[in-house]
Amino acid sequence: MTIARREFLKVVGSASVASSLATYSAASLGAVSDSLAFGFTDENVPMNAANLCPMPSNVTTAHARYAQALDLSLSSASRATIVGFKEEARSRVAAMLGTSPDEIAIVRNTSEANNVIVQGVPLQAGDEVVLWDQNHPSNSVAWDVHAKREGASVRRFSVPTDTNSIDEVVDLFVAAVSDKTTVISFTHISNITGFRTPAAEICAAIRKRKADIFIHVDGAQTWGAVDIDLGAIEADSFSGSAHKWFMGPREIGILYVREQHIDSIWPNIVSIPWGQTVDDAPAGARKFDALGQRDDAAVASLGDAAALHEAMTPAGVEARSMMIADRLREGLHDLGVKFVSTSNPSFTSSVVIISAPRENGRALTGQVYDDSGIITAATGGLRMSPHVYNTEDHVDRVVAAIKKSRNMLS
Ligand SMILES: Cc1ncc(COP(=O)(O)O)c(C=O)c1O
Repeated sequence: MTIARREFLKVVGSASVASSLATYSAASLGAVSDSLAFGFTDENVPMNAANLCPMPSNVTTAHARYAQALDLSLSSASRATIVGFKEEARSRVAAMLGTSPDEIAIVRNTSEANNVIVQGVPLQAGDEVVLWDQNHPSNSVAWDVHAKREGASVRRFSVPTDTNSIDEVVDLFVAAVSDKTTVISFTHISNITGFRTPAAEICAAIRKRKADIFIHVDGAQTWGAVDIDLGAIEADSFSGSAHKWFMGPREIGILYVREQHIDSIWPNIVSIPWGQTVDDAPAGARKFDALGQRDDAAVASLGDAAALHEAMTPAGVEARSMMIADRLREGLHDLGVKFVSTSNPSFTSSVVIISAPRENGRALTGQVYDDSGIITAATGGLRMSPHVYNTEDHVDRVVAAIKKSRNMLS
């Protein structure tokens, strides 16, 4: 039996969940969505999407109602319905990324998605893995662990944040590839510097240099923030976390694997719904999400988060987030503070970082929060990563608080 998502949600009432949300009034987001509402208050404003995003109340409510519906009935029909929502979520996510649902695995987070690739791509003694030195540990030291097991080597390269042009960046990536390189892996937008790599140009140039190289792109800081067309980026795999910019359920992530590579990548975990034989794998990239029992309600509510992005459009989300980030950059420039993140528009993102001594990190974020009610992070300096729910007022408040605490920046 399959029933529509809306009908299923009616199975249990929503009043208790909805009324428990201290709804953040998002009227000022009219350009993006009139109905976008969040549970945070004006004294607790997140500006830290690079780490974790709040879920919009429609996702929180849907998640809670799926869980309540399951508690009401754990019948196989009810569970099958929820699993059906997983396929709906997969299709919606795939459509927005310009891929086929068969190339999308719904895993638990970017760390897991990265490690399916890192541990699952076959490596042999003598192979060389090339990494951007700004990669996250799940896409960096994880490669060292696999390479050590096989006798392969790992080489890292840098891209100075003051690099001037897209061509220069592309040349640095191509120069990093040698005849021995079998894998290259990089982060689409760095969580350490906010540097946005020109992924499409990089992948195309690497393919020209060496056609049979495997290219992995870590999209933890792009999925849900940037309008991505994986059809135009010639990557072999791409990862992301729903709980970051996608504003989706926590502990849900995605892994895209290009169809031609699905067979040759070993899954890290083999469990239900894999069948009884080696050959009885779930279809396509689903073989990478055969992880046993999941939080089915969270998986299902990924579809609700996707519906919100469809309504706002990925291009609309990107434009709104970047507009706020640009205002933030301008305000900070006017203060004359030192930036870690670049101001070159070819490489800017919604991750904005200013320089601050590491030892001041905790005190600084605490003081900024006390003075402005804005939540920032002490990552690579003072990191602010505004998203669609942030307003110009939030930017002005955080800039004023930084001005007040500028003695802690050096
Ligand atoms: C670039 C990048 N990759 C991977 C991760 C890991 O994400 P998660 O903790 O959701 O697995 C992060 C987390 O900040 C990240 O910034």
